[in-house]
Amino acid sequence: MSLSTRHFFDRIQNSSLTKFRLPSPPYYDPSYWDRAYKDATPDDCIEWGGFDLNRLLKFRWERISLDEFGFASNDVAEEKEGTSTFAEWLDIQQHESPEEASSAYQQRKLSNDSSNDAILLLGCGNSKMGEQLLIHSFQGPFLQLDVSSKLIQCMTQRYDKYLKEAAVKRMEFIVDDATELTSLEPNSVGGAVIDKGLFDGLHCALPNVNLEIDDGKDSIRKIMESVHRVLQPSRPFVFFSRSSPKYMLRRSFGDDYEIEERRRRWKDVSVIKLVDLDVMLYRFVKAEENNEDVNLRVTTRAFRMKKRPKRN
Ligand SMILES: C[S@@+](CC[C@H](N)C(=O)[O-])C[C@H]1O[C@@H](n2cnc3c(N)ncnc32)[C@H](O)[C@@H]1O
Repeated sequence: MSLSTRHFFDRIQNSSLTKFRLPSPPYYDPSYWDRAYKDATPDDCIEWGGFDLNRLLKFRWERISLDEFGFASNDVAEEKEGTSTFAEWLDIQQHESPEEASSAYQQRKLSNDSSNDAILLLGCGNSKMGEQLLIHSFQGPFLQLDVSSKLIQCMTQRYDKYLKEAAVKRMEFIVDDATELTSLEPNSVGGAVIDKGLFDGLHCALPNVNLEIDDGKDSIRKIMESVHRVLQPSRPFVFFSRSSPKYMLRRSFGDDYEIEERRRRWKDVSVIKLVDLDVMLYRFVKAEENNEDVNLRVTTRAFRMKKRPKRN
């Protein structure tokens, strides 16, 4: 589906004049995905959007203004268009070779350095993005997560040789629900979170964006919360969609009295159009902890110190 066809689809699905909706599979229902992957084999590969990492290594982009949504940039020097690498948008180093990336990963582990370049692929499906990140010399580890256990079973079979024989393993497969992310610790992802297809599919299947969502189908907002919890501050969440910010920002941040609070938790919100792929890249960076919280904690610690009994 091109950007213009999606625009037409979104206008029908989210019209405030009519309740008419085009049919869409229940992408928000995990059991739908287990059924969809029922007969899948390890060799199957479907790339949502018709592109993979090879098309993202270097791409032309145009910035989409977010002024009307209250995300105006303060940076007058901000470029309006350009050519960049995916690594630049992820703000992650791409090494010279996979071997160099592997040895950098090992050195970091041996030095007990608590930082990491982990990349979490949400709703990884049977895409080759994880494998391609490894081949294209990102450091990782690459955490490939999907709600369908059948799918993860296929993926672990596909990479069986690597998972059993690689001296340094930088690929992991996780069955988990992105709305919860219970398998990951808070602030544990030090590289980036990437979603290709999950948000976009959910958006198409969810009720009209203008309706109050009160029937448990607000999965995009729940995923925003869990991604925020597992990401380290200053690290980006990047997702792709063919729907415009008018819809996707509302899906992501909501439109109720808590919207300001939700928006404050992210900074550097930007959207670019990938000119040759006819798709948009959304990038939200997790904000640092707010100063009030930090101050509160410092005060509390100082108070505790004061109360500690003196040693003789
Ligand atoms: C449209 S496919 C995209 C697959 C892949 N990322 C790609 O680029 O082709 C969406 C994927 O998200 C998974 N998924 C759906 N709901 C999920 C959830 N709540 N948590 C984690 N994964 C989910 C599905 O099982 C499916 O593999």
